[in-house]
Amino acid sequence: MNTIQTYIKDNKERFLNELIELLKIPSVSADSAYKKEVLRTADFILDSLKKAGCDKVEMCETPGYPIIYGEKIIDKNLPTVLVYGHYDVQPADPINLWHSPPFEPVIKKTEIHPEGAIFARGACDDKGQMFMHVKALEYMTSAGNLPCNVKFMIEGEEEVGSESLSWFVPRNKEKLANDVILISDTGMIANDIPSITTGLRGLSYVEVEVTGPNRDLHSGLYGGAVANPINILTKMIASLHDENNHITIPGFYDNVEDLSSEERAEMAKAPFSLDKYKDSLKIDEVYGEKGYSTNERNSIRPTLDVNGIWGGYMGEGAKTVIASTAFAKISMRLVPNQDWREITELFKKHFESIAPASVKVLVKPHHGGQGYVTPIDTIEYKAASKAYETSFGKIPIPQRSGGSIPIVALFEKELNSKTILMGFGLDSDAIHSPNEHFGVWNYLKGIETIPYFYKYFTALSK
Ligand code: BES
Ligand code: MN
Ligand code: MN
Repeated sequence: MNTIQTYIKDNKERFLNELIELLKIPSVSADSAYKKEVLRTADFILDSLKKAGCDKVEMCETPGYPIIYGEKIIDKNLPTVLVYGHYDVQPADPINLWHSPPFEPVIKKTEIHPEGAIFARGACDDKGQMFMHVKALEYMTSAGNLPCNVKFMIEGEEEVGSESLSWFVPRNKEKLANDVILISDTGMIANDIPSITTGLRGLSYVEVEVTGPNRDLHSGLYGGAVANPINILTKMIASLHDENNHITIPGFYDNVEDLSSEERAEMAKAPFSLDKYKDSLKIDEVYGEKGYSTNERNSIRPTLDVNGIWGGYMGEGAKTVIASTAFAKISMRLVPNQDWREITELFKKHFESIAPASVKVLVKPHHGGQGYVTPIDTIEYKAASKAYETSFGKIPIPQRSGGSIPIVALFEKELNSKTILMGFGLDSDAIHSPNEHFGVWNYLKGIETIPYFYKYFTALSK
C-alpha cells in the first residue's frame, strides 16, 4: 500500500467525524435566520485550513458572507493550484421527507453505496467534496510531499448566486493568481465509471407576476367575465414550448452552438442505461426536446423550467375565489455562447408580448451566469485523467454536466484561469433534495485522488 492509502486507512474515522461535525452546522445561505450558523461554518473552515497546514489563513470580509482564504506557498517558481469550494448549503425543505434530520448526519448503507453514505444537507454539495481537499492538503503537508503551491478560496454564497465572490475576485486578482483552479462540486457517472466534468450550463433565473383585477373576487359573481391571472399565467407558461419541446422565445437558440455529429457520436459512447434511468426515477417514459438523447437534453441543450408556481387559495378545503395575482419562478439552463443577460432580456420581452390586455405582467430577473466548456488537450485535464487512472485503475470519461457553477466563467474572465472539475458525487446522491448523501467510499476516493492531481500537474507543468 502506498503512503496516501495508508494515511487514509489510519485516519478514516477522524476524517469522517470531522466532516460530520461540519455537516451539523446548518449553513443555509438563502435564509437569513441561519446567519449565525453560516458564520460559524466559516470559522470552522478557517480553523481546518490552519490545522491542515496552510501558512496563512484569512477571513475575508465582503458585502455578504465572508470568503475563507488559505495558502501554502513553497516556492514561487512552482505552479499554484487554487482550490474553490462552498461552505453554504441549500435549504433542507421539505423537512418531513427526510428519513433522518438534515443536520444530524448519519451513515447508512444503500444499494449504490454498500460501504455506507453520510446523510445530511450539504454532504455532497459541497461540504463533503470541499472537505476532501482540506484532508488531501493535510496529508501532503504532513507527509512533506506537497509538490507545488496551493491556495484555497471557500465561499458562503454559492447556492444564492455568488454575489460577494463576484465582488471579491476582481478586487483580489494578485492574491488569487494561479495556474489552475481545482473544484470538486460536480459528479461522476458511477463509482466504477469515473468521469471528469468538461462543461457546465449557464443559468438565467426569473420571477414573473401576473396581475388581473385589483382584488381577489368571488369566482361565481365574476368568474367568466374577467381574466383569471392563474389561468392566464399557466397558459402563457404552456406556450413557451412547442409540440417538439423547443422553446418558443424568439432568438432563444440564436447563439446555441450545435455539436458536430462526431462530437455527438463521442458523447453517445458514455455508458448510460435508459431503463435504469427511468427505473431510478419511477417514470414510464422520459420527456424532452425532439431529436436529442436524454444525455444531450440535460447537458448540451438549453432548457426552460418552472421551479415554483403559486397564487390563489392553497389552504385546507375549498374557497371560491379568483385571485388578483399569480406568480412563478422560472429557470433557463443555457449552453456556452448563450449570454445569460441577453436571454433574460429576450424572455422578458417575449413574456410581456404574449400577455393579453386583460392582465399586467411583471418580469423580475434574479441571478444568472455563463456556461463553461473545457478542452481536454490541456495539462490540467491530462493530470486529472492520470490521477483518476492511478486511484480508480480506469481512464476517466470526459462528460458535460447539466448543472451550473456560474463563477467558473468569471474566474476565466477575471483571473485568466482554466478550471478543472474533479467531482466525486453521483446524480443519485440527491443534492438539493431530501436525503442528500455522499458515499463514504467517494469521500475517501476523492481524498486519495487529489494528491495525484497535484503530483501530475506539477510534473506536466515543467
Ligand atoms: N454543485 C452545484 C452544481 C452542480 C452539481 C454542477 C452537480 C454539476 C453537477 C451547485 O452548488 C449548484 O447547485 N448550482 C446551482 C446554480 C447556482 C447559481 C444556485 C444550480 O446548478 O442550480
Ligand atoms: Mn455546489
Ligand atoms: Mn448546489
